[in-house]
Amino acid sequence: MKRTTLISSFFVSIGLCFTLLTVAQTPLYKDKNAPVEKRISDLLKRMTLEEKILQLNQYTFGINNNPNNIGPEVKKLPNGIGSLIYFSADPVLRNQIQKKAMEESRLCIPILFGFDIIHGLRTVYPISIAQACSWNPDLVTQLCAVAAKESVLSGVDWTFSPMIDVARDPRWGRVSEGYGEDPYTNAVFGVASVKGYQGKNLSDSYSIAACLKHYVGYGMSEGGRDYRYSDVSAQSLWETYLPPYEACVKAGAATLMSGFNDISGVPATANYYTLTEILKKRWKHDGFVVSDWNAVKQLVWQGVAKDEKESGLKAFMAGVEMDMKDDIYRVHFPALVAEKKIPMKNIDDAVARVLRVKFRLGLFDEPYTKVVEEKERYLKPEDVALAQKLTEETMVLLKNKNNTLPLSANISKIALIGPMAKDQENIVGSWSFNVKTADAETLYDGIQKEFKNATINYALGCDFDGTNEAGFAEALDKANESEVIILCLGEKKTWSGENASRSTIALPAIQEKLMQELKKTGKPIILVLSNGRPLELVRLEPLADAIVEIWQPGIAGGTPLAGILSGRVNPSAKLAITFPLTTGQIPTYYNMRQCARPYGTEGNYQDISTEPLYWFGHGLSYTSFTYGDAKLSATKITKSQKMTVEVTVANSGSVKGKETVLWYISDPACSISRPMKELKYFEKKEINAGEKAVYKFEIDPMRDLSFTNATGKRFVEAGDFYVHVNNQKIKFEIVE
Ligand code: NOJ
Repeated sequence: MKRTTLISSFFVSIGLCFTLLTVAQTPLYKDKNAPVEKRISDLLKRMTLEEKILQLNQYTFGINNNPNNIGPEVKKLPNGIGSLIYFSADPVLRNQIQKKAMEESRLCIPILFGFDIIHGLRTVYPISIAQACSWNPDLVTQLCAVAAKESVLSGVDWTFSPMIDVARDPRWGRVSEGYGEDPYTNAVFGVASVKGYQGKNLSDSYSIAACLKHYVGYGMSEGGRDYRYSDVSAQSLWETYLPPYEACVKAGAATLMSGFNDISGVPATANYYTLTEILKKRWKHDGFVVSDWNAVKQLVWQGVAKDEKESGLKAFMAGVEMDMKDDIYRVHFPALVAEKKIPMKNIDDAVARVLRVKFRLGLFDEPYTKVVEEKERYLKPEDVALAQKLTEETMVLLKNKNNTLPLSANISKIALIGPMAKDQENIVGSWSFNVKTADAETLYDGIQKEFKNATINYALGCDFDGTNEAGFAEALDKANESEVIILCLGEKKTWSGENASRSTIALPAIQEKLMQELKKTGKPIILVLSNGRPLELVRLEPLADAIVEIWQPGIAGGTPLAGILSGRVNPSAKLAITFPLTTGQIPTYYNMRQCARPYGTEGNYQDISTEPLYWFGHGLSYTSFTYGDAKLSATKITKSQKMTVEVTVANSGSVKGKETVLWYISDPACSISRPMKELKYFEKKEINAGEKAVYKFEIDPMRDLSFTNATGKRFVEAGDFYVHVNNQKIKFEIVE
């Protein structure tokens, strides 16, 4: 053998040994090709108790601009902290913090950065209640994917969204954050957003983890008062509040957040039954639960723990793996483990759940955020266009007397009045902390662009509230000079969202008075409403020739509204929440149970109508849709057979339009009383003028006709059922 060959084989062997040594030394949990469960158990074996406990804590970092969640900025982060609420959107800062975790902590466990990206980060799109009115879950999925991409590029791995709390009391400010009064609608839109955030795979470059909140029953807050007791019976827990969670858990949602509320005596954050029995044991959820802000400590105030230590014990043993911001787990768990009140196996299981989400997100393998210029990160034209598309489908045409809308193309003078007309602050809605108000298109700008040949006579008229009528005179002058009045009223963004309950859902008196004064001009009034909850419109509706509910559309509201006013866009939204006639009618929701005296003369209010102003499902179009007779594939089936019902819908008007068909089921005689009807399926299609479309609903008895008892067991009973579509009610039978 030649000397050179000898020398080179010597070096090759050394190199091989070195590689083998390095491989042997690289812990399994760092091997990105190893299965996640193996990586978790390898890492767990290496962790000290202190390191494990730190993984179960979430601190805050950055300037906290959430008025409801005031807390000191944590300057010194313990190395090895599990998660941070990241109040910044700066990827560079995130990378610096992450670098500390990756390079200075003993085991290099990446931090999970979470934040409230509720309806977009910078490309802020309509609030959730508006999204539900679109009946277009695919668009919601696409917008959530945009939100996820902007989050990833800002250093956020985990959003505290979607909120899937069924809510039937519009005094509760958080009705704006969910998908309305119906469990099925919350389930469908919850799943749509989980899919958008998490993508096909959590480890994809632009996927973030979703967090279902607020598990569970928070929407039932008594009197619509936030943070208060909620009386959730076992029946309504299973029938109304759990179904959206079950659907989203099945869709793979990585995490959940426990609620502030009390589930009939056992707070949601200390509720073993919902957190462990149902979520982990029955539904086999293998991600983790984070408490809501201070929810662990609040167990003391709720009266189920004598001190913070006990509150930590109760929350953890019930099934809350991560303590948001309270620092109770970090402080008290070493002693609770030493005292054997918390078994090590529970700690290990909780840590494994947190690590599982981190591994699935790919954080161990790619802990840093790609840093790109701001213009590459946010508000990409195609994303803004997508937001506009969704926004068009969220605006509900509530009233259109004598076809006031669309406005004539020849209109030359439009009075544009009201506090919402030029607003950029409130139109984006709550939970839009990263928005730049300058990015928000005003209604004024959209209308001016659309009606290029018209003079827009703008006046503020009045503020959102207060008593100052000084602007009325100018508003009246502008109205008198114009052919039509577009009156833009509504709510400030702080009037809904967290800690934003209201004792009345009417607009402040000053706004109502402005409209009453404008009515005296005799000009037609188009009332445009931007708000985060259903409103009491009993005094305003008679004054309006047309009403468009635009909710809080986010940054792209002006052009879609203008499109609806001009007829460029045919409205297609329908309400996902009922508008009561007055606040006193609350709660009123379409899926109430039957009245014991349902003949229409008894059990009603004596002073006002018992009917709400606009039911769930209400929404007008510029075309007319004519429903043919719905046809069933069978009138009798057994419990295990499926059947189909279909209806042909004709666009009998003169413009193209989108129609959502809502399919409901009712069961008139059952061993428990059932809701008057329940939404089971919906489908939205675009139909050209003069054309028809067929809509089909496949009825699966176990899914669509069954009911749950108070323990979650489902039954189908033989007997008569009805399927409801539009104003038709068709009977069929289930036989043994
Ligand atoms: C409290 C809110 O209830 C919750 O929805 C939110 O995600 C957390 N604070 C974190 O900001």
